[in-house]
Amino acid sequence: MSEKPVILVTRRLTDAVQARLQRDYDAILNPQDRVFTPAELIEKCQNVDAVLPCHSEHFSADVIAALPDRLKVIANHSVGVDHVDLEAAASRGIVVTNTPDVLSSATAEIAILCMLGAARRASEGDQMVRQNRWDFWSPAFMVGVETTGKKLGIIGMGRVGRVMAKRARGFDMEVHYHGRNRLPADLEQGAIFHAVLDDMLPQVDVLSLHCPTTPDTVGIMNARTFALLPDDAIFVNTARGALVDEAALIDALKSGKLFAAGLDVYSDEPGGNPELSKLPNVFMLPHIGSATRETRDAMGFRAIDNLDAVFAGREPGDRVA
Ligand code: 8YV
Repeated sequence: MSEKPVILVTRRLTDAVQARLQRDYDAILNPQDRVFTPAELIEKCQNVDAVLPCHSEHFSADVIAALPDRLKVIANHSVGVDHVDLEAAASRGIVVTNTPDVLSSATAEIAILCMLGAARRASEGDQMVRQNRWDFWSPAFMVGVETTGKKLGIIGMGRVGRVMAKRARGFDMEVHYHGRNRLPADLEQGAIFHAVLDDMLPQVDVLSLHCPTTPDTVGIMNARTFALLPDDAIFVNTARGALVDEAALIDALKSGKLFAAGLDVYSDEPGGNPELSKLPNVFMLPHIGSATRETRDAMGFRAIDNLDAVFAGREPGDRVA
């Protein structure tokens, strides 16, 4: 029997990350990158000491109840942990970790891309040229809105939200934010705090979500809260689809309440929402916020650092349960 801990790696990770896993662990890889059903996930976890999953594997209370006693750690390759029932894991003594910090820049880059893509009608323009439909030009053609100097509202001024704020300041944007607590001045960097979300929404030209999915934030953007935004606002979501009532978002896009939306995440993934896809004023990406070479390496290494700590008897740096 191998002396190294056995680790199930549910998805294909970068070569460098997989090489380190194979060097230090008895790693069971998934080179075909096939998505496991919940039953397969349970079955594949039966003879392992830890699992290194992505947000695509759901560790519900039922799945966690079916894990073997030898499984000690769920070392996520993600900052979001809404796919893991943390209470169920804690009650079984399973350590759960995530990968914060290392994806903040990549995700903020995608949020800026979504903001600009929405404001400048990038999907419409790209499709027009690509589909050979660009047969006209005029000063009145494809006019979007400028974000420079406008007001940006951020829900969730955590690590990603703060990098988003920093990048937005490069566009001379005035940053507002709503979160559970006001940040100290060194983290706030002049951003304007709103303890009550309803007070912030009417004031911002662009709204960008950067909060985790919790019982308090599920559906935080809905018919009522979209209505509080000024007309012609731009809505950006690179966090989680569950934060948004998509039917209300579609209504706000159709009615012109929102000028446009830039989205990287959806209620249903993979796949998205066909009703959203029909709307010209949506700039859409397929959940690739952290998908850069640099960040994928860093996320994998961070997940392994957490595994290393647990198997060395130390407290992992990024323990969430
Ligand atoms: C990734 C993410 O798509 O970290 C998260 O929470 O949603 C993204 O970074 C994914 O989880 C990578 O495994």
